[in-house]
Amino acid sequence: MREKLASRLGFIFLSAGCAIGLGNVWRFPYVAGKSGGGWFVLFYLVSLALLGIPVLAMEFAAGRAAQRSIAKMHEALVPEKRAWRLHGVAGFFGNLVLMMFYTVVTGWMLIYFCRMAAGRFDGLDTAGIGAAFNAMLGDPVSMGAAAVFVTVMAAVVCSIGLQSGVERISKVMMGMLLALIVVLAVRSVLLPGAGKGVAFYLVPDFAKVREIGMGKVFCEAMNQAFFTLSLGIGSMAIFGSYIDRRHQLFGEAMNVAALDTSAAIAAGLIVIPACFAFGIEPAQGPGLVFVTLPNVFNSMPLGRLWGSLFFLFMSFAALTTVLAVFENIVACIMDFTGFTRRRACAVGALVIGVLSMPCVLGFNVWSSFRPFGEGTCVLDLEDFVVSDILLPLGSLAFALFCTRRYGWGWKSFISEANAGEGWPFPDRLRLYCAYGIPLIIISLFVTGLLRRFG
Ligand code: ALA
Repeated sequence: MREKLASRLGFIFLSAGCAIGLGNVWRFPYVAGKSGGGWFVLFYLVSLALLGIPVLAMEFAAGRAAQRSIAKMHEALVPEKRAWRLHGVAGFFGNLVLMMFYTVVTGWMLIYFCRMAAGRFDGLDTAGIGAAFNAMLGDPVSMGAAAVFVTVMAAVVCSIGLQSGVERISKVMMGMLLALIVVLAVRSVLLPGAGKGVAFYLVPDFAKVREIGMGKVFCEAMNQAFFTLSLGIGSMAIFGSYIDRRHQLFGEAMNVAALDTSAAIAAGLIVIPACFAFGIEPAQGPGLVFVTLPNVFNSMPLGRLWGSLFFLFMSFAALTTVLAVFENIVACIMDFTGFTRRRACAVGALVIGVLSMPCVLGFNVWSSFRPFGEGTCVLDLEDFVVSDILLPLGSLAFALFCTRRYGWGWKSFISEANAGEGWPFPDRLRLYCAYGIPLIIISLFVTGLLRRFG
C-alpha cells in the first residue's frame, strides 16, 4: 500500500516546501539583479501564470493517477508507449543534478547560521563581509562537510518515513520562515537609501531590459519559474502520488504557486533594496544574499539574533526542498530496484554526497575550470543543465504527455485533475495547453541556447 500524507495542509505545505527554498531567497534575487529588476519580475509572474501553474497541475495529476514516482509513472499510465519512459529516466537525473549544487548552497546557509550566531560578522563593513564570503568559498573542507551533513540529514528524515518524518517537519519550518521573511522585508525597505532598490526591483525600466536583451530576460524568467516550482523532473508529481482524490488539482497548483511567489517577491524585497542601501552590486551573482544580508543585520538592533534566525529558517527552507527532492530520488530508487526505504535512503545519500563534491571544489581547487568564461564555475554549469535544459524540456514533456493522444491524453488528464472538489482545470484551455505551452517553451528554450552559445 502506497504511503499517504495525513492532511491536505500537509500536502500543500510539503509541495510549497519543495517549491520554496533557495530558488526564492538565493536564486530569485540574484537573477532579478542580473536581469535588470522590474521587467524580470513582471516576466516571471507572467511565466508562472502561463506555464508554471498549468504544468504544476499536470505533474500533480500524472503523479496522482500513477501512484508512482516519475521513474515508473509512464509505465503505470501508458504501459504500451515505452518511449515515454525516457522522461522518467531524465527526471531522475534532473533531481540528482539539482541536488549536486543544492546541498552545497544549503550548506552555506548552515555555515552562515553558525557564524552569525557566533558573532563572526559583528562590526564588519561591506568589504569585510564580502571577504568573509570569499574566504568560505576558498575552504573546501567546511563546505564539503556542510554539504555532507545536509545530505545525511535528508537521508535520516526520509528513512523515518513520509508522514512521521517529512510532513511533520515541513509544516513547522515553513510557517516560521514565512513570518520571518515578512519582518525582514519591512526592515530592508525602511533602510536609508533603499528606495532606489525598491524602484529597480518593482518598476520595469525599458532602457535596462534593452541593454540586457528582452529575449534573455524572458528566458531567465521562464527558467526561474520552472526552477522555483521544481517543474519537469517529477519532484512535484511525487506529492500528487501521495494524495487522495478529494481536491481538484488546478486549485492546489494555484495555492502552491501563490505561497511560493509571495516568498520570492518578499525575498527580493529583502535583498535588492539592501544592495542599494549598502552600495552592493545587485548583478554580482550567486553570492548576493550572503554578501548583502549580514550588512542588514549589522544595521539592526538585535541584528545578530535576527540574522541567526534568518539563516536558521533559511536552512530549514532549503532543507525542506532537499527533503522533497531526496524523497523523490528515494521513491525512484525504490521503484527502479525494489529496495526498502532505508536501503534506498542509504544509497541515495551516498550518491548525492559524492556528487556534491565537484560543486564544492569548483570554488577553490578546480577554480580554473570556467565553463562559461570568466567568473563562472561548476555551480553555473550544473545550474545551467538543470534550469536551462532539464526543467524546461521536462515541463515540455509533461505538457505533451497530458494533452496528446500519443501520450496519456487530455481526457485522462482532465478527468484526474478535476476529480474531487475545488477549482477545476478549465477544459477550454485544451488547445492552449496542447500547442501554446509547447510552443512558448520551445521558443524560449532555443532563444536561451542561442544567446548562451550563439
Ligand atoms: N523549487 C526549489 C527552490 O525553489 C528548487 O528552491
